[in-house]
Amino acid sequence: MQDRDSRPEPRHLVAQAREAARFSYSPYSGFPVGAALLCADGTVIRGTNVENRSYGLANCAERSALFAAVSQGKRDFVAIAVACPASNVPVSPCGACRQALSEFCPPDMPVYFAGSGPDHASATIGSLLPSDSLHDLKDR
Ligand code: THU
Repeated sequence: MQDRDSRPEPRHLVAQAREAARFSYSPYSGFPVGAALLCADGTVIRGTNVENRSYGLANCAERSALFAAVSQGKRDFVAIAVACPASNVPVSPCGACRQALSEFCPPDMPVYFAGSGPDHASATIGSLLPSDSLHDLKDR
């Protein structure tokens, strides 16, 4: 279902993130996470967390979605939703994912995040990563 801008409503993007969490590979944490990244062309790229027996190699759902999207030639993003069905509270992106997302996403881009309940919280990339001073680095 889409709104007048033909963009999915937040709750529908969150629903796609929940769907993505079904494919989580998280036998070490038991914490499945899904992400749904809305691209400017209207497509939604999903990702999930993928863990490893060498624990530090775990990749978060948000970065799985982001890297998949960039690998498909997409660099313009409109919103991202994250869902953690094993959590009582909505779980926002970790610090590494905030940094990775900020490379491609505008500071005012909305981030929707959910836990096991029906509701979700909202923030922006800029509010999750304040004082981000490295934006001009590649223009120097
Ligand atoms: N995780 C995510 O995929 N995204 C988040 O926003 C929080 C954490 C994953 C990493 C790891 O597989 C598990 O959740 C526990 O931290």
